Amino acid sequence: MRKIAVLCSGGDCQAMNACIKAIADTCHSNKIELLGINRGYQGLIDNDLRPLRKLDVANIETVAGAIIKTSRSPEFMTEKGFNKALENLKNNGIEGLIVIGGNGSFRGARDLVNAGVHVIGIPGTIDNDLFYTERSLGFDTAVQQAVNAVTDIKQTMYANDRAVVFKCMGRHCGDIALHTAVAVEADSLAVNEVEYSIPQIIEDIKNSMSHGVTSPVVVMSEGSKLDMEEVVYEIQSQLQITTRGIELGYVQRGGEPTYYDRMLGVRWGVLAVQLLMQDMTNLALGIKNDKIFSTPLIEVEHVLQEFRVDMVNDLRTLHALPKL
Ligand code: F6P
Repeated sequence: MRKIAVLCSGGDCQAMNACIKAIADTCHSNKIELLGINRGYQGLIDNDLRPLRKLDVANIETVAGAIIKTSRSPEFMTEKGFNKALENLKNNGIEGLIVIGGNGSFRGARDLVNAGVHVIGIPGTIDNDLFYTERSLGFDTAVQQAVNAVTDIKQTMYANDRAVVFKCMGRHCGDIALHTAVAVEADSLAVNEVEYSIPQIIEDIKNSMSHGVTSPVVVMSEGSKLDMEEVVYEIQSQLQITTRGIELGYVQRGGEPTYYDRMLGVRWGVLAVQLLMQDMTNLALGIKNDKIFSTPLIEVEHVLQEFRVDMVNDLRTLHALPKL
């Protein structure tokens, strides 16, 4: 293998840069040329590439975002765009491609595999919604960012005896909300994976208030079917407590990556290059019980979510609520 390329696609996540650096360093050690494709699959269509030598990636590992940027490319989903991307891979002499991204990016990667390209997928999304792996890159940092924000905001809510409802990112996956809720001991949690209603949230809060809580916290996920403004309105009107609703938003995609995300990015970066060097293709990388592994990229989309109801029950136990 003489020439590899890397691209990031979909929503960015923390530690994409740490991963890119590990890929570049491993390529350097093995005398492989590395190209960065700017702005994901769209950059491949536009032939927007740049060299990524060891010096180009110095000190990028602590920075969120992606130095080669990312995008969602509708054009890549057209036959014309896809063929242009294939042509550019060929014309640039790229023998192996590493794709860092989430579900949509993996779909694109699978199409390239089916067209004969050697591709390795690295799960990069704060959402943690690639269910074949326990963790995806960025999730740990996103939760840390959410926990920090909730912790800070809770202080002012406490001083004012206010209730607060936080909405976390995660698309259809409630993992960021769940982990955040447990870490901050939220009084109530609303995620898509567990059936929940406004009357139940009101009951949870009433219960906490009966135990002396004066500034109850609700955490909900972006995928929850409940409307945050409605939840806020109902808490305020039914429990006569001033209530605020806060969408945590993009703060969850920023910030310095945690050691854990950096470590994951480094380990997956090294493995991805090693696999390509062995002429392997069609592999998605993952982690389970602290061991990294590779598994067929073509198969990972069928793996179903195993939502951590045990963690929901930990939270309920804290507040003397019956388990689900
Ligand atoms: O997939 C990552 C993510 O941050 C989701 O949690 C969120 O729903 C979405 O991307 C936001 O996308 P955009 O950056 O296009 O607003």
